[in-house]
Amino acid sequence: MLVIGRDELRSLVHMDEAIDAVAKGFVDLSSAKAEVPLRTVISTAKGDVLFMPGYVPSLGSVAVKVVSVFPGNLSKGMPSVMAAVVLLDAGSGQPLALIEGTHFTALRTGAAGGLAIKLLSRVDASKVLLFGAGKQGYTQVEAAVSVRSINTVWVMDSIEGAAERFCKNMSESYRDIEFVSIKDYNEIIAEADIIITATTSTIPVFDGSKVKRGTHVNAIGAYRPDMQEVDEVIVKRADKLVVDSKDAVLAEAGDIIIPLKRGIISEGNIYAEIGEIVTGDKKGRTMDEEITLFETVGVAVEDVALAALAYQRALEKGAGIQISGF
Ligand SMILES: NC(=O)c1ccc[n+]([C@@H]2O[C@H](COP(=O)([O-])OP(=O)(O)OC[C@H]3O[C@@H](n4cnc5c(N)ncnc54)[C@H](O)[C@@H]3O)[C@@H](O)[C@H]2O)c1
Repeated sequence: MLVIGRDELRSLVHMDEAIDAVAKGFVDLSSAKAEVPLRTVISTAKGDVLFMPGYVPSLGSVAVKVVSVFPGNLSKGMPSVMAAVVLLDAGSGQPLALIEGTHFTALRTGAAGGLAIKLLSRVDASKVLLFGAGKQGYTQVEAAVSVRSINTVWVMDSIEGAAERFCKNMSESYRDIEFVSIKDYNEIIAEADIIITATTSTIPVFDGSKVKRGTHVNAIGAYRPDMQEVDEVIVKRADKLVVDSKDAVLAEAGDIIIPLKRGIISEGNIYAEIGEIVTGDKKGRTMDEEITLFETVGVAVEDVALAALAYQRALEKGAGIQISGF
């Protein structure tokens, strides 16, 4: 069993490779080959532990991610969300790797967002508007930069100082890109080619009527039926509404469930799962003027695919710590 920590994961897997890996997971999902059982939740007195399993046959891999959400940890100086991933060989059942799961999740979620940007945004998209300067915000922007020539990123966050910190940190890594923290999106939203929402907000963070034609939106954060990050206007205006998993989004994403319940859209508005675009069964962007929207709640196939890639890279580079006795 190989143990792979956060820092090793960062150096082992580049974003562009992660994007290719999650694409393979999405293909198995959309061609009904993958198995993604419902996650199991155990509630303890202090928090919840979530078990999220998946099987991607084309990668010969099974994995389970265990995520704990213990809000009280923050007062003890500990993270409130922690995670670990166990990867198994689908041929023998042998446990292969134990991988740190928090940065891992941000990386695979970024990769899913990057895949959507690659398939759905205009090829000349260069300006990003990001809502939410948290963990997912970083990897969403990293992914955008790896698939498009981005020159400007506007960042807005509801916590004082968070967007400024984000811009300072990212400017150190990406010197050719202008990072600008903003307090009001109204003046620049019509200039944005890509809008990313990666917040914990339960109400829409921007007015969809202000989005210009040709924009691509990645909606990352709304994972509960009562949570809305993007409003009904932009969901309705989207010429192509693409999801990671139709089943998961219809069960969990308030961004889609709420306008469905209100009769503003129907299930027919969902144009495709992203895996169908990867295979070419459905087309990605076909016209510059289209508004495209990618709604993701996260699916275990992304975890399986990234875990298999991280394990492969670790073997090639002699990284990680081998534990015997398994
Ligand atoms: N789709 C997926 O696969 C996936 C994966 C991981 C996390 N998530 C979800 O993405 C969201 C963000 O996760 P994270 O790990 O980055 O969390 P985080 O707590 O690190 O960051 C969230 C940021 O959003 C900001 N925010 C909240 N409301 C806002 C608003 N109205 N406008 C602007 N900023 C606002 C917060 O201040 C915070 O800085 C969460 O809801 C999380 O559950 C989705």
